[in-house]
Amino acid sequence: MPTSRVPRRRRFLVCEPRHFAVQYAINPWMHPDVRVDLDLAQEQWQALIHTYRAHGHTVETVPPVPGLPDMVFAANSAVVVDGRVFGSLFHAPERRPESTHYETWFKAAGYDVYRPENVCEGEGDLVFTGRYLLAGTGFRTTREAHREVQEFFGVPVISLTLVDPYFYHLDTALFVLDDENIAYFPEAFSPGSREVLERLYPDAVLGTREDAMAFGLNSVSDGHHVFVPPRAEGLASRLADRGYVPVPVDLSEFHKAGGGIKCCTQEIRP
Ligand code: ARG
Repeated sequence: MPTSRVPRRRRFLVCEPRHFAVQYAINPWMHPDVRVDLDLAQEQWQALIHTYRAHGHTVETVPPVPGLPDMVFAANSAVVVDGRVFGSLFHAPERRPESTHYETWFKAAGYDVYRPENVCEGEGDLVFTGRYLLAGTGFRTTREAHREVQEFFGVPVISLTLVDPYFYHLDTALFVLDDENIAYFPEAFSPGSREVLERLYPDAVLGTREDAMAFGLNSVSDGHHVFVPPRAEGLASRLADRGYVPVPVDLSEFHKAGGGIKCCTQEIRP
């Protein structure tokens, strides 16, 4: 078992939750009658950013826009591989305007942005492993978008079917640990997709339903540290057994909108 895993410095794009709220329900976590504590949300989010920076990662920010309460979930805005940006086209009409604001940021930062023709929610459903793009479908991103993203990047796209509405985005059920391995919650996937994951990652770290409901599979790893919710205790101890260092970050206010650590984090791969 490897004892010293190597962190790689990341460049992250995030969006401050100034206008964060639960105003509509587009996944089973969202109940518009439940109040969000905005001060606590801001505090938790600031702690995430502070933790990333303290671990050597670069964090850049997109200005938040009033009336777009889910814009804090930066992961949904795009997928960026080799400096090429594949933008997003949201399923929910409420979120569609977010794409333009992120596009403006990317353009100002010197990137061209490809606009997908099919519904596609960025890193929410497209998870780059270094070798493949694992691609979720079933609730948001479509199979047609999987084809579109494969044509765009020329990277093998592996379609995986999500079956549990609580895990409506691939990144709520699976995250990349490093170039070799992933962690995931098997029951979120159809039987065939589960077999695909077993074939590709026989040594994966598996999460339980408890870990998944705590947004444990929505973690971010730099290859050494894993930024993980404190309530996913089982997962954290399994990660530690494999030589990773769990770094707890609590984003509980964001769970009310169906989001966690990874949802708030877009990775820009140079
Ligand atoms: N309320 C948002 C939605 O349902 C949450 C998005 C979470 N993002 C993610 N990458 N899973 O669209």
